[in-house]
Amino acid sequence: MTPIERDDLGFVHRFVPAETPDRTPLLLLHGTGGNENDLIPLGLQSSPGAALLSPRGKVSENGATRFFRRRAEGVFDLEDLKERTEELADFVGAARSKYELEKPIAVGFSNGANIAWSLLFNRPETLKGAILIRAMLPFDPPSLPDLGGFPVLMLSGAADPIVPAEMRDRLADALTRAGADLRYEVLPASHQLTRQDLALAADWLTRLQP
Ligand code: MLT
Repeated sequence: MTPIERDDLGFVHRFVPAETPDRTPLLLLHGTGGNENDLIPLGLQSSPGAALLSPRGKVSENGATRFFRRRAEGVFDLEDLKERTEELADFVGAARSKYELEKPIAVGFSNGANIAWSLLFNRPETLKGAILIRAMLPFDPPSLPDLGGFPVLMLSGAADPIVPAEMRDRLADALTRAGADLRYEVLPASHQLTRQDLALAADWLTRLQP
């Protein structure tokens, strides 16, 4: 089915309707400098037939699109992150009503993965699960929600020059302490997406929703 491009509901976004209605929808969150088209192929390949909801981040960093502001590499603007997280959660709620969707599983890459964990920590009711690719947690969260049993797949790169090991390990630790059902894989990869990411994401999604 042809994807629909829309600029309503507060975010420019693409919506691809489901072809297999019992598959959980995916919320696709692109990386810095990306847009709503970037992760559509990943969504189509990792969960064939699922509905895809793919918003474009609203922040521009010298022309590079992001989901929230940062002060420098790995230094997040926490006030902006909080506001943008609320805004994104509200968008997901509005899109679910409009397109008649179940709760989605977030699939975030890099900056998109970072706003995905912020959704988990601040508005966990928005999502059914999350795949966090090349995510990082640059600070100790003041409090953690109860994510009891919440399914999360974290895919990190052992040779990622943007995400220091302690920042990915800190996120894995926070998710575990919050009670998430976490699978954490550190791949022989850099910051870029690899075939292994796609294969692991597809396998994890199939196990979650056979
Ligand atoms: C971020 O700012 O979210 C991370 O540094 C990853 C990136 O987008 O480069």
